[in-house]
Amino acid sequence: MRLIVQPDNKKSYIHPEIYGNFSEHLGRCIYNGIFVGEDSPIENVNGMRKDVVEALKKIKLPVLRWPGGCFADEYHWMDGIGKKENRKKMINTNWGGVVEDNSFGTHEFFELCRQIGCEPYINGNVGSGTVREMAEWIEYMTSGNFSPMANLRRENGQDKPWQLKYFAVGNENWGCGGNMRPEFYADLYRQFQTFIHNYSGNSVCKIACGAGASYDNPNYEWTEVLMKNARQFMGGLSLHYYTLPTGKWDVKGSSTEFDRDEYYMTLAHADFIDELCEKHGAIMDRYDPEKKIGLIVDEWGTWFDVEPGTNPGFLYQQSTMRDAMVAALSLNIFNRHSDRVHMANIAQLINVLQAVILTDGEKMILTPTYHVFDLFSRHQGATLVESIMPASPITSDGRTFSSVSHSASVDDEGNVHVTIANLSCDEDASLSIRLDGGAYSLMDAKILTGDMHARNDFDNPENVKVAAFECASVSACASGTEAQLNLPKVSVLSLTFKK
Ligand code: AHR
Repeated sequence: MRLIVQPDNKKSYIHPEIYGNFSEHLGRCIYNGIFVGEDSPIENVNGMRKDVVEALKKIKLPVLRWPGGCFADEYHWMDGIGKKENRKKMINTNWGGVVEDNSFGTHEFFELCRQIGCEPYINGNVGSGTVREMAEWIEYMTSGNFSPMANLRRENGQDKPWQLKYFAVGNENWGCGGNMRPEFYADLYRQFQTFIHNYSGNSVCKIACGAGASYDNPNYEWTEVLMKNARQFMGGLSLHYYTLPTGKWDVKGSSTEFDRDEYYMTLAHADFIDELCEKHGAIMDRYDPEKKIGLIVDEWGTWFDVEPGTNPGFLYQQSTMRDAMVAALSLNIFNRHSDRVHMANIAQLINVLQAVILTDGEKMILTPTYHVFDLFSRHQGATLVESIMPASPITSDGRTFSSVSHSASVDDEGNVHVTIANLSCDEDASLSIRLDGGAYSLMDAKILTGDMHARNDFDNPENVKVAAFECASVSACASGTEAQLNLPKVSVLSLTFKK
């Protein structure tokens, strides 16, 4: 098989935000996962786990969404500010019915983002909130004026306003966010967003709630109605899509025990996001041909049965090489749609769904998905370039997709980054990569590979890890440079070439 990369055939900017993540007040994501409190024996800085922050810095996490998810449309931000002992306690009705003590609120979230060095992305409450509540939150966070909310922020210890680039007006308002019809939500969106002001030099990209798609219902109508009625008021429109092995919500399947057929079915369902980006994007193109409005895929990833014996409302699942392949396939797809996909946030950061990190008390492990984000991080802020490869197809559950997934980019220094995933669990791929337009040398090559069931757990934290990779040869050819290599089955490879 031959992969042809054309570094001079530039396509679109790869927004670093495609490599974003999502943190919700759900299960052990925020509490225990990220936030342990200043008095915890677990090493922390201002209550944030040090090991977690370090790991997220390493993959250059660009943006983090918070506080939900379904939680967002029941969250009242004023409950989460001020002295902790005075903060109102609530029941997290969406996720396990546990007590939420609001000890992690707006100040803590901005502190977390400061430590990681990522952009905060906040999701507002439309479903059970008011226009005033949302407007005042924006004022509280971003205004440098001497106004009631800005003064309240100062009283709570934050003198300077924060910078907030991304704000979403509601979450899944077709479902847990209010069971609305698209026409109704579009009108509400128009109303709510009017009062999201740009204070003190801050400029907010307003994100409207988009469609929730599934394998049997892509839900194009929601995108059509939103674009038709509210496009002039939005910087982004979201899209949610979860990969279910069976494609059905009532039989999700185990995260660790699956056979060959279920492996391929999972990948077929993951690959469907390509069609979703294409077709939701095509609707957006009709209203926004210049592609100014970003498709914000702010929830994606695998969703399996919870780990046996864990709280069903906590959505805790393990992560194997199968998840790594879903991640690599999805990220290559987002890169290839980066003209329209301006942000993507895998669900979720820690201990929930396709997490990049799992914790157990003071122990922390990195999942295979984490390592994929590590391998792909070099695409952030680079420019997508053409890469072409006819590969043998795989068909499962009515969908045919290529057995090898790939994308390539060129960064500001002219380095070419190529990420390739051999999705087959049956055959290694013998590959030649041709880079057109000059003599390149291979600067860096890394691989993640293992049996499709391979995973890290608290007893074997490094069972799956990134390793150095050797190409069989890299040499000059008539049109540029050619590398020969053998790509093991179930593997993700990242290569960087320098001119
Ligand atoms: O990520 C878990 C949940 O999935 C989110 O809260 C919700 O937005 C989606 O349905």
